[in-house]
Amino acid sequence: MNGTAPGRLYGVGVGPGDPELVTLKALRVLRASPVVAWFAGPGRASNARRVVAAHLHDDQAEVALVYPVTTGAVEDGSDYEGLLAAFYDEAAVRLGALLADGRDVAVLCEGDPFFYGSFMYLYNRLRDGFETEVVPGVVSVVAGAAAIGAPLVCLNEALTVLSGTMPADELAARLQASQAAVIMKLGRNLPKVRAAVERAGLLDRAHYIERVTMDEERLARLADVDPAAAPYFSMVVIPSAAAAAR
Ligand SMILES: C[S@@+](CC[C@H](N)C(=O)[O-])C[C@H]1O[C@@H](n2cnc3c(N)ncnc32)[C@H](O)[C@@H]1O
Repeated sequence: MNGTAPGRLYGVGVGPGDPELVTLKALRVLRASPVVAWFAGPGRASNARRVVAAHLHDDQAEVALVYPVTTGAVEDGSDYEGLLAAFYDEAAVRLGALLADGRDVAVLCEGDPFFYGSFMYLYNRLRDGFETEVVPGVVSVVAGAAAIGAPLVCLNEALTVLSGTMPADELAARLQASQAAVIMKLGRNLPKVRAAVERAGLLDRAHYIERVTMDEERLARLADVDPAAAPYFSMVVIPSAAAAAR
């Protein structure tokens, strides 16, 4: 121990892509943090960093946490979980050393840190040793509903949130039982997801939403989309039928 008070770990949600959807609190924490960390795929820029790039300053140290594999590329493979666990262990050691040295660390997170966000794995590893704080962000799902102009859920309805990585039968069964639904993590899962939506009889209500609120945003009816070509930042939204009818 060097006698310095340890730093604080922040998970900072930066929203779905539009820099105007970054909260005032996220900006304050980000500007005040001497260390800013972000996740990125191998050979790729960090999307979360891009959202707040204009607010970073030269006095800040940046830590790139580069995933060992492309997200989704081997998601069904047996050693994917092990590779990722080792990656998060190592990332936690790196950030832990900076925190122990008395430096606050802000980890940038797309959308919200605790909504399918990788930050949670760092949080789990570091929360017992250091003060932690999560700054919530605008979730891509609600940005998606806003972009297509369709209320998601109303009154006593339930919203089903699904991952495109789920097996096809389970996806179809859960969709059949849903009043409104969102399917995240499309990418190479889109053909399976589209088939499940069709099996559930929901294709005419399903919207395909790509890179919502970013400059490259694309909105379409799922029925009109080529299922072979979905990027990682895409989702399907099936909004409430009841809300549309009221
Ligand atoms: C690991 S999850 C992270 C979700 C994020 N933490 C949030 O709160 O929105 C990644 C998935 O979120 C969805 N996603 C995130 N940002 C998006 C965007 N701007 N446009 C469309 N989908 C997005 C996609 O389905 C993507 O595969």
